[in-house]
Amino acid sequence: MKNAIITAVLVAACAGTVLAQKKKESAVSIDSKVQALLSKMTLQEKVGQMTQLTLDVITKGRDRFSSNEPVELDPALLEKAFSTYKVGSVLNTANNRARTPGVWYKIISQIQNANKTGLKIPVIYGVDAIHGTTYTAGATMFPQQISMAASRNRELVLKGAEVTAYETRASSIPWNFSPVLDLGPDPRFPRQWETFGEDPYLVSELGKQMIKGYEGQDNQVSDPFRVASCLKHFLGYQISVSGKDRTPAYISEQALREYHLPAFKAAIDAGAHTIMINSGLINSIPVHANPDILIKLLREELGFKGLVVTDWGDIENLFTRDKIARDHKEAIMLAINAGIDMSMVAYEYERFCDNLVALVKEGKVKEERINEAVSRVLTLKYQLGLFERPVSDYKKYTKFGGEEFARLSYLSASESITLLKNTANILPLKKSANVLVTGPNGNSMRTLNGGWTYSWQGEKVEEFAGKYNTIVEAFINEVGKDRVTYVPGVSYKMDGKYFEEYADKMEEALKAAEKADYVILCLGENSYTETPGNLSDLYLSELQTEFAKKLAAVGKPVILVLNEGRPRIISKFESQMAAIIQAYLPGNYGGDALVDIIYGDVNPSGKLPYNYPKYPNSLVPYNHKPSESRDVVQGVYNYDADYNPQWEFGHGLSYTSFSYSNLRFSADKIGSNESVSVSVDVKNTGQRDGKEVVELYLCDLFASITPDVKRLKGFEKIHLKPGETKTVTFSLGAEQLGFVGKDHRFVVEPGEFKVQVGGLSKNFVVE
Ligand code: BGC
Repeated sequence: MKNAIITAVLVAACAGTVLAQKKKESAVSIDSKVQALLSKMTLQEKVGQMTQLTLDVITKGRDRFSSNEPVELDPALLEKAFSTYKVGSVLNTANNRARTPGVWYKIISQIQNANKTGLKIPVIYGVDAIHGTTYTAGATMFPQQISMAASRNRELVLKGAEVTAYETRASSIPWNFSPVLDLGPDPRFPRQWETFGEDPYLVSELGKQMIKGYEGQDNQVSDPFRVASCLKHFLGYQISVSGKDRTPAYISEQALREYHLPAFKAAIDAGAHTIMINSGLINSIPVHANPDILIKLLREELGFKGLVVTDWGDIENLFTRDKIARDHKEAIMLAINAGIDMSMVAYEYERFCDNLVALVKEGKVKEERINEAVSRVLTLKYQLGLFERPVSDYKKYTKFGGEEFARLSYLSASESITLLKNTANILPLKKSANVLVTGPNGNSMRTLNGGWTYSWQGEKVEEFAGKYNTIVEAFINEVGKDRVTYVPGVSYKMDGKYFEEYADKMEEALKAAEKADYVILCLGENSYTETPGNLSDLYLSELQTEFAKKLAAVGKPVILVLNEGRPRIISKFESQMAAIIQAYLPGNYGGDALVDIIYGDVNPSGKLPYNYPKYPNSLVPYNHKPSESRDVVQGVYNYDADYNPQWEFGHGLSYTSFSYSNLRFSADKIGSNESVSVSVDVKNTGQRDGKEVVELYLCDLFASITPDVKRLKGFEKIHLKPGETKTVTFSLGAEQLGFVGKDHRFVVEPGEFKVQVGGLSKNFVVE
């Protein structure tokens, strides 16, 4: 037996070495191909490789901002972009609308064949396939990242990303602008739902899974089922002072490194091929023009070797918005010299190319800088296998949009939906009960999916998602139409601004509530992303709040379903709700999963990935400083600081109960470069099978800079049958014990640490 194990270990080690050797050889051969190609390229050709335009620019249409339907490429525009300007990359869809894999095949084949002269370098196509292949009709849409964070399930994140890679490649697209590794601690920000939430460790852990899902365990992206990932938005994008998109952030270097950097570092170490830059300003410097971030930090310190792409039009913004350049040309000079490799122009590509050629000729941008950038573009194209296979034969992707993928999306939704409140165990409901389904989110595929679904803002979802079930449809499928009444009560205006609502038969809904046994009140937000999702009031809308109060006054138990991209404040009526479920943005199978939870076919297991705020002036994350907490009694005077989330990060109920016992360490004292293992026994003490997320929080009791009250340092999701006990073990080493100190360096300081797991706690000492 022992021999067998040794042999197995040796075989695995050899396989590892062979793989590493192969990787090295392929890197060397790609490198020589790139250098050979580069030596044949003209300056115009090189600059073209650094240019990315959006699809509408090369289609037949009114202007370069729109396309005719059905979409058709314009031969003259193709010729200009690819034969004259030698543009190297295209992004996005036309008319902001999803296309079938067959249409994608046709469009991208034409683009690949458009360069009739010179070196015929393939074009690299990129899209935002952030929760499934956004712009492909029939693709499998998963829950958004915020939901996946709530699932705390690494494997589901990995597998979901694998499916997205498969379906994106099936659409002939090899490059995905995902994952979002921004920390998402601010519920005001319109893209919090695109993140894995407010905790740096959670973001890092799930981010790594997404990279592996997109790129494969060995990052061999030439695999026809893999894509290159793109980490975004480097760095500190989502903590603007105003809470609004693309507005200034002020972040100390210590905080930048402690909270925002770890997820990017982990993803770079996991082999991610490309990265996109933060569109905003940090400490008044636009990140797109900041060599300290783009060169010193990203290249020299993190050792990132891949491609750096701008966000949409962000070089232009240095002039037109941020006023650090006097004209477009100077903006291009600043960004390219700061380390940008490719400009997502997206429209005025001629201006970018002409100016950059001129800048090189004038000596203001060195040709070596251009060569470096172009080498990275070409390397990526070789790595993706685009020279051999510039498009994919979509007919060979037989699993596209099929049952297997659908099941995974459903499972992801069912593990993410989070039960926040369940007074007197009112849930699960009996299937014999009569329910009223109401609220603006009760019959909408758009709100279940959120932005980046078949279109940028998600406004075209209903057109593409007809075959999936809205919440009310899922109810009818589950218990039959005789037991389900549906009246919207409040609706979103389809032609107005996203957040405009109107009272849609509110009186009728209140009357229907009288006849029902339970009211399923589906509130939240309509879909949005980026600046259209900016918000000035974090409370849930007045109309929805009024509706909730009136419904509660009817006297029937109200089960509130929240379907929202960020936690909108509900404290004005929360106490009147019998049960509350956070559905987040659960995707195309979210309605089905939700109903299975409501009736108990699925036991909920999601956990909040952020603090759910109770008041708009108290947006404090769980990992705050001691002076922000009410339970700080040591201060010279009792501040009674208002730490009062409605629910804390990590909160989430189950239909069964779990008990924790026997928290123990492998040692009570360790050296600063040693690790300690922490074990705990978890038992299912209830009557149903259940999944529990076991979370380990660590608190450094005293440190040279004020430590956070607690930090997540480990989590495992386990399945337990009634009466079953499992032991979960975590390891805490320097990586978990240390922090970024005053001098911006990582340090482990001796002292006492407190470990908290499921209500238990115990201290150990680092000597
Ligand atoms: C967004 C990015 C996205 C890009 C391309 C930008 O507006 O900020 O997240 O990848 O557009 O669609």
